[in-house]
Amino acid sequence: MKITTSAPGKLLLFGDHSVVYAHPCISTAIDRRIYVTVTETDDQRYVLHAPEVEIEEYELDLLKDVEAIPKGAQYCQIALRNFKEKYGFDSGLRIEVKAGFSSKIGFGSSSAATVAIIKALSQLKQLNLTQQEIFELGYKTVLDVKGVGSGYDIATAAYGGTIYYEKNGEIIEDLGIKNLPLIVGYTGIKADTADIVKEVRSRMNNGTNEVETLFNEITDIVKEVKELILNEEWNKVGELMDKNQEILSQLQVSSEILDKLNAASKEAGSFGAKLSGAGIGDCMITLASEVKRLNVENGIVQAGGKVIPVRTNVEGARVEK
Ligand code: MEV
Repeated sequence: MKITTSAPGKLLLFGDHSVVYAHPCISTAIDRRIYVTVTETDDQRYVLHAPEVEIEEYELDLLKDVEAIPKGAQYCQIALRNFKEKYGFDSGLRIEVKAGFSSKIGFGSSSAATVAIIKALSQLKQLNLTQQEIFELGYKTVLDVKGVGSGYDIATAAYGGTIYYEKNGEIIEDLGIKNLPLIVGYTGIKADTADIVKEVRSRMNNGTNEVETLFNEITDIVKEVKELILNEEWNKVGELMDKNQEILSQLQVSSEILDKLNAASKEAGSFGAKLSGAGIGDCMITLASEVKRLNVENGIVQAGGKVIPVRTNVEGARVEK
């Protein structure tokens, strides 16, 4: 038996960093997907082939600790182990992972791969796990591998669409939006999310409640912007993007290049701009009207960024064939 599944990457629209501490965020699934093919085999081996992350014909040993596993195989191995512990299976498996985007740009390749693998195993074993069950096992996998993370990326990969996410997954709401005139600018710099999250955490314990205050301000923005996105009030959404970016700068997770790309997009006529995700590198996002789109894209390129065309709000984890 052989099955191919896929799950989408994500972009965090509002609520970066504060979401790690159970605050709400809004994120969207994008049309860059990770594809996973799982084939049952007669032997008892689990073989992973994911050449894009330098894993070739690698035999997974489910008893190994995370630290002893090569980076590119960690999520797959731990997802497999968690799935086996919860639902069981006895055949050997060959798992092939094909990426529709680079793991370097912050679109959540590990989360998408984790979700696609769980979806494939669920289909293979005819369990038909719900999006919520896939999310729960995926989020456990992220925490087992990284030790930190809000889980919104797993939820976005499992559910798809554009979601409002709160309390580490206790609330996952599909916003059901139709349109999002988003432009994505890549800085060319890879951000190490876990390190940046840990850095912010260390600042939370410095005896002041400065970080908590900033997180509460972000939460106010997320709650306000939800309605505005639904009503397509892009002008106001853009203003709140700028406000959210300002707070992220105060949190010290922005950088010169992100500031530069944000500023360039606004000079070229966008509604507002902010970093998306952990910050320091990866991508910035901006909103622009159809007439200003080309101008804004050129502005980002002239400022040293790369525009990555994406369609937002796409379908979550699915069976391909
Ligand atoms: C990274 O994509 C977003 C952060 O909020 C971390 C997380 O939510 O796990 C920085």
